[in-house]
Amino acid sequence: MSAPARLRVDLAERGYDVIVGEGLLADLARHLPVPDHAVRAALVTNATVDGLYGDAVRTGLAAAGLEVHTIIVPDAEDAKSLAVAETGYHRLAAIPLRRDDLVVALGGGVVGDLAGFLAATWHRGVAVAQVPTTLLAQVDAAVGGKTGINLPEGKNLVGAFHQPRVVLADTRTLATLPERERRAGLGEAVKYGFIDDPVVLERLEAEPVAAVAGDPAVLTEVVRRGVAVKARIVSGDEREGGERMLLNYGHTIGHVIEALTGYTRYRHGEAVALGMVAAARLGERLGISQKGLAARTVALLEGLGLPTGGVRLDPGAVAEVVARDKKARGHGLRFILCVRPGEATVVDHVPAGAVEEVCASLA
Ligand code: NAD
Ligand code: GLY
Repeated sequence: MSAPARLRVDLAERGYDVIVGEGLLADLARHLPVPDHAVRAALVTNATVDGLYGDAVRTGLAAAGLEVHTIIVPDAEDAKSLAVAETGYHRLAAIPLRRDDLVVALGGGVVGDLAGFLAATWHRGVAVAQVPTTLLAQVDAAVGGKTGINLPEGKNLVGAFHQPRVVLADTRTLATLPERERRAGLGEAVKYGFIDDPVVLERLEAEPVAAVAGDPAVLTEVVRRGVAVKARIVSGDEREGGERMLLNYGHTIGHVIEALTGYTRYRHGEAVALGMVAAARLGERLGISQKGLAARTVALLEGLGLPTGGVRLDPGAVAEVVARDKKARGHGLRFILCVRPGEATVVDHVPAGAVEEVCASLA
């Protein structure tokens, strides 16, 4: 077992460390930067994660000198709602959690987004520590400061950028994740290989079975490399004005698939896997991506047990979503495409017909 890695998100006074390692929760007090004058911690989690890791985190927070109050939220995407946020605010008021105190988010991306949003808005912003326990949250959602909740009209429509004080990614927690969640997290991790660090691809191609089974050495390296990419990109482009857009590789068609299948058929990382297959085919078709990229993408994702086809999208519905996107953005259809493994680029004015064809190829 190697020493924890410390990756810096370099945002001047809002900068912070992402610490990645096996067994961090057992030593939480040592890794937690407690805000000056903090007295209380509101630990936001769900019943599943609380049962597994709540006691370890409460022990660590108490050892750091904090009075701990646990807030349990539902274990479902529905927890990212105005109603659950309102209940959360009432709980924070009852503690009472003051301006100098700390919110701790313990769980997957749902808990992280909700607790981050509560922290962003409570007393106009209090400190939050992100303690992600899913692969998707460790490699992506907990880093970078995007927080938010959903409305019936759409996902993540209400939110705020609110950077955490620290992210503590204990990769040992990934051992208890359901296998499907680990696979979905690997889908999001693969993205970093195509946009920046091909070693992620090589590692997952060499050891797909170990990765899916939750081998701590493989997953720790994948999380560390993915976070290093995200930390570097967010440090240079916090608000997604430029390079941060590259983190959306595979997401344009991934989002279309999630929307057209009612957000129930696919986990987010599974939809991103399908989106990366489509993006690689689109890139090759437009002469932007290296030949063979799509075949490598499909082989890698299949090795990880992720979907690479089998989704029939109504062409009319795809055209409608695509047209909406075009109208909303004013620069034609925008896609993130991979030039070669490790290099991605933003491409505007992509022909709608080509997009519809690659979507059809996923059937
Ligand atoms: P999730 O939070 O729903 O977690 C998946 C399931 O795993 C849940 O049932 C959870 O209780 C369980 N779980 C969590 N940790 C566990 C563990 N260690 N052992 C056993 N079970 C565990 O799903 P997710 O995929 O982590 O997150 C999805 C959410 O993340 C979405 O709402 C998405 O919008 C958001 N997201 C946010 C960002 C961002 O930048 N803020 C980026 C990507 C996704
Ligand atoms: N998940 C993409 C981002 O944080 O920008």
